[in-house]
Amino acid sequence: MSKVIAVTGASSGIGEATALRLAAEGHHVVLGARREDRLASLAEKIRAAGGSADVRRLDVTDRHDMTAFVDAAVDAHGRIDVLVSNAGVMPLSRLDALLVEEWDRMIDVNVRGLLHGIAAALPHFQRRRGGHFVTIASIGAHEVSPTAAVYCATKYAAWAITEGLRQEADPSIRVTTISPGVTESELAGSITDPGARALMGDYRANTIPAGAIADAVAYAIAQPADVDVNEMIIRPTRQR
Ligand SMILES: NC(=O)c1ccc[n+]([C@@H]2O[C@H](COP(=O)([O-])OP(=O)(O)OC[C@H]3O[C@@H](n4cnc5c(N)ncnc54)[C@H](OP(=O)(O)O)[C@@H]3O)[C@@H](O)[C@H]2O)c1
Repeated sequence: MSKVIAVTGASSGIGEATALRLAAEGHHVVLGARREDRLASLAEKIRAAGGSADVRRLDVTDRHDMTAFVDAAVDAHGRIDVLVSNAGVMPLSRLDALLVEEWDRMIDVNVRGLLHGIAAALPHFQRRRGGHFVTIASIGAHEVSPTAAVYCATKYAAWAITEGLRQEADPSIRVTTISPGVTESELAGSITDPGARALMGDYRANTIPAGAIADAVAYAIAQPADVDVNEMIIRPTRQR
C-alpha cells in the first residue's frame, strides 16, 4: 500500500537515498531540509522517474517549522503514515577544543530536532491509531570514541528517546531505530576541527553506499502492521 512518508534531512546522503528508494516503491514522499535547491532537484528526479514528492524548507531545530512541515503533509494528503527523522550533523572534535557552539548545534539538530518531530507527528498518529516513527541514529548510539563524545551523546539520546517512545506508544504505532556505520554522505563535511578531520579520513576509508541504509528503512516500513522492526545496525563489513 502506498504511504505518505515525511523525511527530514532529505537534501543529501541517507535522507536523499531513502527518499529515492521509497518513492521508487510507490510511496509519496515529503522532503524537508534547509537547502531548498537540493530538495527541488531531488523532487524533479523522483517525478521524472514516475514517483511523487512534495518539498518544504525545514529547520528541525525550530519546533514551529517542524510542526508546520508535518501539518502541511497532513493537510495535503489527509494523513502522514511515516516520519523518518534523519536530519543530523556531526562536527566532531575533542572536548578540550571547547567548540561549544558546535556541541550546541549537535544537540539542537540531533536531539531537539528528533523531539520536535515526535511532538509534531505523535498527535496525528494517536488520532488515526496508526503511524511509524523511524529514527536514523548511528553506530555512535552504541559506542563512544575520542572526538565523538558529544556526537555519540546525541545519538545515545536519540536511541533512548526512540526506545522510550516504543515502550509508551499505542501498539498501533510502530517505532524503528536504524543505526548506520560509516556511510557515504556529506556528514563529515561539517567537521571544522583539523585533528578530528584527519582522524575521520582514516575512519571513513571503508564506506557503504547510502542506499544500504535506505534499503533498511524500506524493509522496516514494508512489514505488515503487526510487525514492528525495532532496531537495525548496518555497517561496512570492514568496520570494527
Ligand atoms: N554517513 C554516516 O556515516 C552516518 C553514520 C551514522 C549515522 N548517520 C546519521 O545519518 C543521518 C543523515 O546523515 P548523512 O550521513 O546522510 O549526512 P548528510 O549528507 O550531511 O545529510 C544530513 C542531512 O541533515 C540535514 N540537516 C542538517 N541540519 C538540519 C536542520 N537544522 N534542519 C533540517 N535538516 C537538517 C541536511 O540538510 P540541509 O543542510 O539542507 O538542512 C542533510 O540533508 C544523520 O542523522 C547522521 O547522524 C550517518
